[in-house]
Amino acid sequence: MTHPKMINPDYVPEPEKMNVKKGLEGAVIDQTSVSKVTPETNSLIYRGYPVDQLAQKCSFEQVAYLLWNNELPTQEELKQFENKERGYRTVSSEVAELIRLMPKTAHPMDVIRTAVSALGCQDPRIWDKNSNPDKALQLLAKIPTCVAIDIRRRKGQAPISPRTDLSIAENFFWMCFEALPQPEIVKAFDASLTLYAEHSFNASTFAARVITSTESDIYSATVGGIGALKGPLHGGANEAVMHMMLEISDPAQAEAWMKNALAQKKKVMGFGHRVYKYGDSRVPTMKKYLQIMSQIKNETRWITMYEALETVMVETKGIYPNLDFPAGPAYYLMGFEIEFFTPIFVMARTTGWSAHIIEQTSNNRIIRPLSEYTGTAERSL
Ligand code: COA
Repeated sequence: MTHPKMINPDYVPEPEKMNVKKGLEGAVIDQTSVSKVTPETNSLIYRGYPVDQLAQKCSFEQVAYLLWNNELPTQEELKQFENKERGYRTVSSEVAELIRLMPKTAHPMDVIRTAVSALGCQDPRIWDKNSNPDKALQLLAKIPTCVAIDIRRRKGQAPISPRTDLSIAENFFWMCFEALPQPEIVKAFDASLTLYAEHSFNASTFAARVITSTESDIYSATVGGIGALKGPLHGGANEAVMHMMLEISDPAQAEAWMKNALAQKKKVMGFGHRVYKYGDSRVPTMKKYLQIMSQIKNETRWITMYEALETVMVETKGIYPNLDFPAGPAYYLMGFEIEFFTPIFVMARTTGWSAHIIEQTSNNRIIRPLSEYTGTAERSL
């Protein structure tokens, strides 16, 4: 039987009367209890706690626990959580071998995307949604190991096994450099992981939620998140910032460089944000750690350039730096290769992605928006 609305030529389904929201700007897609961005007060809270306080006062492990459990852990809960995470750090010889087989010309984001996909292939519980919290912990534990294997094999170095007596941040330095830097550097890195951990319905988290909404698995959703994060308009910006700074090279040239870029209407990486319009809530904290890194390494070039670029951009366009702007040079000063800045972002954001994947699963409806058709009007063959 034909539905009456189908034969009414004037009928337009209600959503199609709405304006197209290019880039979903301003669209509220669902509810979340994981985090909240308030651009008016320039704040970001994870489960109620301001991110700057978490970054300075808590470990990344505590923050991961908070994102997944809604509360900070007690001492005992933290110990158990850390022990479990540390026990999951080793990856199978097949995954390690797969990473080693990837061409060295491949971007490390493509390698970690492939490695996470392989972790999914190896998990016999891939379809079991009840074990998602445990899989999230395994991803948190194993992704840094995969990234470190990739870092070292590109330099012709053998992998270094993860240690169970170190925090996630310390262990990552260990697996990369077979040495631990001074505690201030570890703290700066650990804080960066907290700042990068979660950011509501950003592009990669939304991608992960879309994939989850089809009742697909956590690995597929994480792979999708990695794919979205790779782009320079999203996570890839931290790498682009450092390339830009190296290109400018001399802080004395920064002002002229920025004026020229703006005159040419170039998008300058590390500036601007869809939600924040008066500054990114995470930037003051990360900038503080960049300043600490500059002092420790006795290298003020990047922070001086930072100030010069920021001044011109804010004065000329009223656009503020985002987290990638201080994170890029901070990671550079920590000794990481530029192409690994976004995989480090993956190590952090896997916590936020999993929190959203679990939340989406708990109250799911397939995400399926509409589009306005602009193609050729209906015609007959
Ligand atoms: N450099 C120069 N101009 C910028 C800019 C930047 N980084 N970011 C935004 N603008 C300008 C746009 O050109 C546009 O100007 P116009 O109105 O004169 O055309 C205006 O600001 C609005 O920008 P728009 O591109 O519409 O913002 P968006 O919400 O669609 O995009 C970003 C947000 C983050 C993708 C965008 O700011 C950007 O590309 N930034 C650089 C990449 C980056 O750092 N990404 C990391 C984000 S955490």
